[in-house]
Amino acid sequence: MKKPHIYITRKIPTAILEPFMDRFHFKMWDQELTPVPSDVLEAETKQADGLLCLITDQIREELFVEAPQLQIVANLAVGYDHIDIQAATEHQVVVTNTPDVLTETTADLTFALLMATARRLVEANNFIRQDKWGDWAPFLLTGSDIHHQTIGIVGMGEIGQAVARRAKGFGMSILYHNRSRKEQAEQELGAQYREFNDLLEQADFVISLVPLTKETTHLFNEAAFKKMKSSAIFINVSRGQTVDEDALYEALRAKEIKAAGLDVFKEEPIRANHRLVQLEQVVCLPHIGSASEQTRVNMLRLCLENLAGFFYGDGAKTPVN
Ligand code: GLV
Repeated sequence: MKKPHIYITRKIPTAILEPFMDRFHFKMWDQELTPVPSDVLEAETKQADGLLCLITDQIREELFVEAPQLQIVANLAVGYDHIDIQAATEHQVVVTNTPDVLTETTADLTFALLMATARRLVEANNFIRQDKWGDWAPFLLTGSDIHHQTIGIVGMGEIGQAVARRAKGFGMSILYHNRSRKEQAEQELGAQYREFNDLLEQADFVISLVPLTKETTHLFNEAAFKKMKSSAIFINVSRGQTVDEDALYEALRAKEIKAAGLDVFKEEPIRANHRLVQLEQVVCLPHIGSASEQTRVNMLRLCLENLAGFFYGDGAKTPVN
């Protein structure tokens, strides 16, 4: 069998590819920090039996139409809203993602962002860097408590449940909203199911961990922010499009909610002059939910194992279609 030709849409360390080199012919985009331009992606995909792609690549129907030999797209992310799954299925292309290997790392980041936002860590760090520290003062940089507060997790998948485990360690009351009930989390963590609006009204921390779908686009809109407590802190680690950013900005500016921690944005990358970055009570991160070295290596390995399973074994390990 001729080695399948795999196009990788970003420069990745060749050491990760080495164990697979006897089975595949790899070609990759030569830049580490910038995405492959769409015309290069199209041209390369026409030659490829498989793609290893990133969330920065738009994998639309045209690509499948123009690359009839393409059999599999291994996506280096758990979310796959940048891939037209219906078109992939119609063109008999298997799509895989990277669940499980990033669960705990993304939950760590979610909790870190919650804590940084509640306790104003970025502001406090900038305070020293800007040499503003005078004397200790009773209300200097005071934030919100985390322990024994109520967390409301919207999207109680694997990452949501991992966040809930962390919250339990902080003595928090755990509310969640999800399409289906999570009996195990209810029993083991004391998590309580709430209708969406009830969760918004009751939570001190509202965490968005929903996948981006038609139903979740702008789930967090003006009406949702108006339901939250004025002391509420909103954390988004899913996708920027789950939030109406204008409504979020207004809610923060008008002090209808207290603060926000955002790892994702409607259009990425954002620039330093983005409106939300200008607000002191907002902590912004550049989409780094799963960005630990170990986890990124494990995600890449899972992509490669998916390709190996598909072409040489019993099938892809983690297909989504
Ligand atoms: C990152 O955003 C992912 O979906 O894995």
